[in-house]
Amino acid sequence: MDKPYPPLYYTDYLQLDTLLNCQSRKSEEYGDPAHDEMLFIIVHQAYELWFKQILFELDSAIALLSKDPVREQDVGTCVSRLQRITEIQKILIDQLRVLETMTPLDFLDFRDYLFPASGFQSIQFRLLEIRLGLESDTRLRYNQAAYHSRVSPEHRDLLIENEQKRTMFGAIEHWLERTPFLEFGEYRFWDEYRVAVQSMLGRDREVIENNPTLSDDEKVQQVLELGQTEEHFGAIFDPDRHDALRKDGKLRLSHRATLAALFISLYRDQPILSMPYRLLAGLVDMDELLTTWRYRHALMVHRMIGTKIGTGGSSGYQYLKSTAESHRVFRDLTNLSTFLIPRHALPELPDALFRRLGFAHQADIA
Ligand code: HEM
Repeated sequence: MDKPYPPLYYTDYLQLDTLLNCQSRKSEEYGDPAHDEMLFIIVHQAYELWFKQILFELDSAIALLSKDPVREQDVGTCVSRLQRITEIQKILIDQLRVLETMTPLDFLDFRDYLFPASGFQSIQFRLLEIRLGLESDTRLRYNQAAYHSRVSPEHRDLLIENEQKRTMFGAIEHWLERTPFLEFGEYRFWDEYRVAVQSMLGRDREVIENNPTLSDDEKVQQVLELGQTEEHFGAIFDPDRHDALRKDGKLRLSHRATLAALFISLYRDQPILSMPYRLLAGLVDMDELLTTWRYRHALMVHRMIGTKIGTGGSSGYQYLKSTAESHRVFRDLTNLSTFLIPRHALPELPDALFRRLGFAHQADIA
């Protein structure tokens, strides 16, 4: 039988001659080889390879979600890609344990050779943040300078150019804004939902007021807390208030997209909404795992260098710990849980809509 392709050799296919020849220890070059520097290099290189794979998956998911309309099977594909990313992220978190077999004293054997290089200059990590949707004006300032001030001019241009491209946040927001079903004939999702929320909060108030185990002071306190919950719900019912919070940087997702995400989360048991729900959940997972990595990396840094400044010049541990909280991208999706109401209190969907959610949405966009 004729072979359609020439035979391939494993080493050539994977370009191992190149890959396995790019681990050069600076300590060796300067005549004082430090054993652990090899591990330090290989762990970083392994990270960069995984970053490459994550970006590859993320780019394809963004492209699929940027189609108009987004086909249902493509939503399933995006869910699988996100799931692959989150599995990689778990490895990335675990991988720090391998590096931690190097003690802080071992690290000092070669740390001085690294200045001013730093993970802060990882272009792929920055691209990953940008692709997810981290905006440059919401980044923590690094010694009062822009995040790209420490990279080469070519890399700086590349990052700035990438800031103009569609992000996962942008693609999801746009997709959510186009979600059908929020209005269906006479049905208005938010009107029905508002009634259900008001009766739920009314019942909560009654429970507090009629609770014989609470003192008058405790009742006043709990009613006050209930008032705060009502405040939270207020923004979801009032687009102007929502927009004002967006302008203040307290919310990011548009009002329409937030309502759609809420609808999907509340009615996720409907067959047609199950994939969209998994997509939103995948984004929250990804955000959470990246935050976990940031925090885990910060803890490792604390252990390795204590409170010293980083080789890149930041405050080190303090800077990294702060990014864990402030560089989250899909916080609004995570916060949706605030607005969930129990299944038994969910307003019933009109029959016609219920039937559509069961089968027919696909026909609309085929
Ligand atoms: C001994 C191990 C490590 C130490 C002591 C360390 C230390 C630091 C420090 C201090 C910073 C803040 C910037 C600076 O001032 O340099 C930083 C940033 C960073 N490091 Fe590491 N790091 C280590 C390992 C790693 C590994 C294995 C990776 C994987 C790629 C990594 C990726 C990053 C990234 C992406 C940043 C930028 C984070 C941001 O700005 O949000 N680091 N590192």
